[in-house]
Amino acid sequence: MVHAKRALWVTLVLAGLATIITSHATEYLIGTDDVFRSLQTRGYCEIGNHHFLKDDYNELYRTFDQFIDLMSNDRDFAIKIHTIEKDFLSIDTQKKRYCSAPPSYRDPREHETKRFNKIYFQFIKEHYNLLCDTETYTYDPSVESFLKNMEKLDAMARELFSEIIDRLEESRPGIKALAYGKYQELTVISKIVRYEKSEGWGTTPHRDKSCISLIWDSNDDDDDSLLLCEDTQNPSFKKLKKPIRFFSQAEDVTSTILIPGAACSKAGIDLNPTIHGVAPIKKEYRHAVISFLLIPDIDMSEITSDFIEPSEENVVKVTPKEFDMFFPSAKIVVRHPLDAEKILLVQRNAYYEPAGGKLEIDFSTRTAENLEQCAIREAREELGLMVSIEQYIGSYYFFWSIDPNKFSSCAVFVGEIVAQDPAFITNADSSELRIDPVWVSVNDILDKKVRVDPLYIGLEDLLIDYCRQVKG
Ligand SMILES: [Fe+2]
Repeated sequence: MVHAKRALWVTLVLAGLATIITSHATEYLIGTDDVFRSLQTRGYCEIGNHHFLKDDYNELYRTFDQFIDLMSNDRDFAIKIHTIEKDFLSIDTQKKRYCSAPPSYRDPREHETKRFNKIYFQFIKEHYNLLCDTETYTYDPSVESFLKNMEKLDAMARELFSEIIDRLEESRPGIKALAYGKYQELTVISKIVRYEKSEGWGTTPHRDKSCISLIWDSNDDDDDSLLLCEDTQNPSFKKLKKPIRFFSQAEDVTSTILIPGAACSKAGIDLNPTIHGVAPIKKEYRHAVISFLLIPDIDMSEITSDFIEPSEENVVKVTPKEFDMFFPSAKIVVRHPLDAEKILLVQRNAYYEPAGGKLEIDFSTRTAENLEQCAIREAREELGLMVSIEQYIGSYYFFWSIDPNKFSSCAVFVGEIVAQDPAFITNADSSELRIDPVWVSVNDILDKKVRVDPLYIGLEDLLIDYCRQVKG
């Protein structure tokens, strides 16, 4: 078995070498001839790298751990790092350019509600340049060595992304112009993560918001945590599996997985994002490094990275064809119990909308909710509020941003609070898309100060009409 594996690996490396010699003078071995086709049909391809080896990664992980210790033990130092990051993002063009994933150091130990079991740092070259010019950089030798290691990885990412984009351009002209945009160089973020042992998902299955992502390395025992879905047309949790790797078999090559993110299809490139996740972490710590190539300056605000399956598997089996496309839904505007000029909405990404969601339909028992029951259930699930429906104010429709072949029509109600669940915690289910309930004044809606998703055709008008009614 070992011999067979080895022979296959050697064949692939030789095939990769042949590709390099004939077309690309590079230090990386791309293990497949047609990268675009591989991403389209299998959702990923593996790249062998003999430039950054296991020892380099281990050194990066070691220095990241030191950086984490400094960030958590030295408050002043942490504040300085965060301030420099803020300065970086205060430059409008940079904020826009890196909009889909701002640089950030996140340590769940600093947050009251521990939503994630991981600490991460996102490296952006321009942010790093600012850091280099400060005393923060030379504050402790460990900082400099960590950031230098990240810089080395990031430079490698840029080089490899540029080669991959050239390859993709051969199959799909136009992708190169999109990736470079008006800039002279690619827009890259490199991220290092330290996961803690966990019972649940290390990272719940999701799509990246990037154009393409390189999942460099992790210190799993047998590359056993990264799972991805080869079927990018109809992804599901059940289809998630370990990618097939050949390059991780050898000592002088490390294995990197390349996948497309959501920005490609958003920008009109026919590549679906590959759903991927990190299985429960069995060891005390797991480190991983990823680089994202962004398509700069495109609006990704309505695209969520969360992967929500359309429905349960048994429901899918008996779903009539038309229900693959149409999803009825209901939402509810909740009135403030004391202040008539305030209503409760939820903020999802950058936009505000009433709480609500899809009707629950069970095709196996042929039972379903009606629109009112759906609105009441959603208010309980999303807001922890028992509500009674007072009036129906109208409906709106939208094509799904994550899948334009799907369409929903949504009924909107107004309701009053009849009881509150004292034990309710917002966003307790971290696998659901994050929402933030906000009391909004009707004047702000009338003055159009509240941003409503433009993809929801008719929702803003409905809210304005209702607010006019409130104002009499
Ligand atoms: Fe990801």
